[in-house]
Formats: sequence, C-alpha cells, structure tokens
Amino acid sequence: MPGLTIGDTLPNLEVDTTCGKFMLHDFVGQEWVILFSHPGDFTPVCTTELAKVAAYTERFEERGVKLLGLSCDDIQSHNNWIKDIESYSGGCKVKFPIIADPKREIIKELNMVDPDEKDATGKQVPSRALHVVSGDKKIKLSIQYPATIGRNVDEILRAVDALQKVANHKVATPVNWKPGEAVVIHPGVSNNQAKEMFPQGYSTAELPSGNDYLRFTNV
Ligand code: BEZ
Repeated sequence: MPGLTIGDTLPNLEVDTTCGKFMLHDFVGQEWVILFSHPGDFTPVCTTELAKVAAYTERFEERGVKLLGLSCDDIQSHNNWIKDIESYSGGCKVKFPIIADPKREIIKELNMVDPDEKDATGKQVPSRALHVVSGDKKIKLSIQYPATIGRNVDEILRAVDALQKVANHKVATPVNWKPGEAVVIHPGVSNNQAKEMFPQGYSTAELPSGNDYLRFTNV
C-alpha cells in the first residue's frame, strides 16, 4: 500500500494543534492548504525549516494558501519549541497551527512516517512529508523527504504557483518553470482548440519527429 498520495481525498481527521482542536476538512474550507510534517520538536533541521516557513508565511497567504505543520510531540512541547523557531527566524512569528501527534496515529493516516528513523524510545517518527491540498480536499501534490534532508521552501512556493497556474488554464509547466515564464499547452488540447483557447497565440518547437506537441504560450 503506497499510502495517502496525489489524487486521494485528505482524511477528515480531528487534530489537536497549537491553535486548538479542529477537523482537517474544516481547516481546508475552500482554500489551498500545505500540510507538512516534521520528525520532532527541538531538532536542528526542523527548526531551520519551520523558521523559513514562518518567514515565508505572507507569501503563502498572498497565494491564498494556509499552512498546517505537524510534529509528533505534544502541544506544550510545540509551544516551547515555537519560541526557539521565532528567535532563529529573526522574529518572524509562527502564525499557523502545528498538529501534535504523540501517539503517532495521525502520521500513519497521512502517510507521513519515516521508515528508518526512530526516536530515543524506539518509536517511529514522521518523515518530512508535505501534501498540497486544494479546496476540493484532494491532494494535488505530495513529497516525501527523509528526516535527514531539509526541504526547499522556495521550491514549495514555486510548486504552488505552478499548481495554481494549471488549475486555471489547460496548460502544464515545463522544466524549471518560474512564474512569468511561458507554459506548455496541455497535450490533450488539439491545435484547433489551442487557437480558440489561447487567442494570444502560441509557438511550436520544431523537433526531428516532425510532431507538433511542444507548444509554448503565455497565460
Ligand atoms: C532534524 O530535524 O535535525 C532531524 C530529525 C530527525 C533525524 C535527523 C535530523
């Protein structure tokens, strides 16, 4: 069983967080949510990651994205750890909730378990998993990093921009795409449809196959 991944519906679990208890679907509402897990409180990589997310909170908010962290320790530990995170981030506040999961039940439901890492008592710990959920409660993007590898918050922001772009247009984003750059027209769109759909026009790359599938446009 691969566990929860893209295309799946986020389970509507009740979670206990630093901002109170709620159901996951109520938190998502009609918005985009990034749900991301951490192996444990007061650990070095996690502190650097959460400090960066705290610093980027406004950039996520500008995109209509809500943040929801998870670490397997309890709420009291999270609240003490947040003081370290805010200090390390140079004063950026952790304005988003962090789920507590001391029994490691939620991380199993959400496919956020590191298969190799254990805590000092031998219990499993969360991986650095991240699910981007849209207002329909479906997982649109999912990554899994091991506990030992910190994620790249710039890449997560870029991926959100790409997800929002393809949600609104029949396009896809090519390699290393950044906002403002050309996108490619979805392969399911015929040339006749493309002329209607993209009145601004598009260019087609000439390829040895002679096929005209690589079409760039700006949206
Ligand atoms: C960390 O956050 O630094 C970390 C946590 C678990 C294993 C390795 C690193």
